[in-house]
Amino acid sequence: MKAKLIRYPGRKWLKHEALWAYPNLRDHLPDTMLFSQQAFIDMIDKYKVVFVKPDLGMQGKGVMKVTTIKENGGGYVIRTADNAFAYRDVRNAAKKLSQLIGHQQYLVQQGIDLIRLKGKPIDFRALLHIKPDGNWRFFGIMGKVAAANQIVTNYNSGGRAIQLHQALELSIEESHEWEMLIKQLSGQFARAMKKSFPRITELGLDLAIDTKGQIWLLEANTKPHYKLFRHHSNPSLFAKIASSARSIRSSGA
Ligand SMILES: Nc1ncnc2c1ncn2[C@@H]1O[C@H](COP(=O)(O)OP(=O)(O)O)[C@@H](O)[C@H]1O
Ligand SMILES: [Mg+2]
Repeated sequence: MKAKLIRYPGRKWLKHEALWAYPNLRDHLPDTMLFSQQAFIDMIDKYKVVFVKPDLGMQGKGVMKVTTIKENGGGYVIRTADNAFAYRDVRNAAKKLSQLIGHQQYLVQQGIDLIRLKGKPIDFRALLHIKPDGNWRFFGIMGKVAAANQIVTNYNSGGRAIQLHQALELSIEESHEWEMLIKQLSGQFARAMKKSFPRITELGLDLAIDTKGQIWLLEANTKPHYKLFRHHSNPSLFAKIASSARSIRSSGA
């Protein structure tokens, strides 16, 4: 299988398909399709909110959010980083998306109703490195809160790091249970990723918690930044991560 040779699988679609093969993970994977006008029309009908994003994207660039509105006779709003377009007819919204996308490969994904902090959406980054014995080491999890009026939480779009308990508005002790749950699920994702892409050594999982408390994987980064972890409640964690990343990257394993 070609995927086995890829060291840093970048394409979100390839990773989604690989993980979808594991029935135990499906409850945590947003429904995703390759973008076409028809796929968008089907997905927006089903989920009411969808994200349309580049297959080979990063830093939140090119991510769009489409919402269904019920007021004023109904319609659809396409939101980009700096614009919004409204349509009554779903086919016109689909055409506009096609125009915005051009010739690149894009995905259309079930929108997750992210929990919020003071009205701003939050998601999470879990970080794992492979150990010499082949098991994964889970370092921890950080929250990312979007800047005002942004649809993505990425640092480059003004997102900022917050600690898990701050994101969940819980005490550190109370947030511990969530951390354990996330750690366990992250391990399952990491093992599945490693089976499909045996050469990966690091994982930065973009995880979301929806307003009902369900945990979702938005994307799996295989060459993750770890700057966020400078803000972790454990002040020595960042140095540990940096040292582990150096040894993994220099060994070129
Ligand atoms: N399906 C989704 N539901 C809700 N928010 C999403 C969804 N997909 C992406 N986002 C938001 O957009 C951000 C960027 O999307 P992501 O898939 O991580 O792409 P990138 O590679 O650009 O970081 C996410 O961190 C999240 O804030
Ligand atoms: Mg991301």
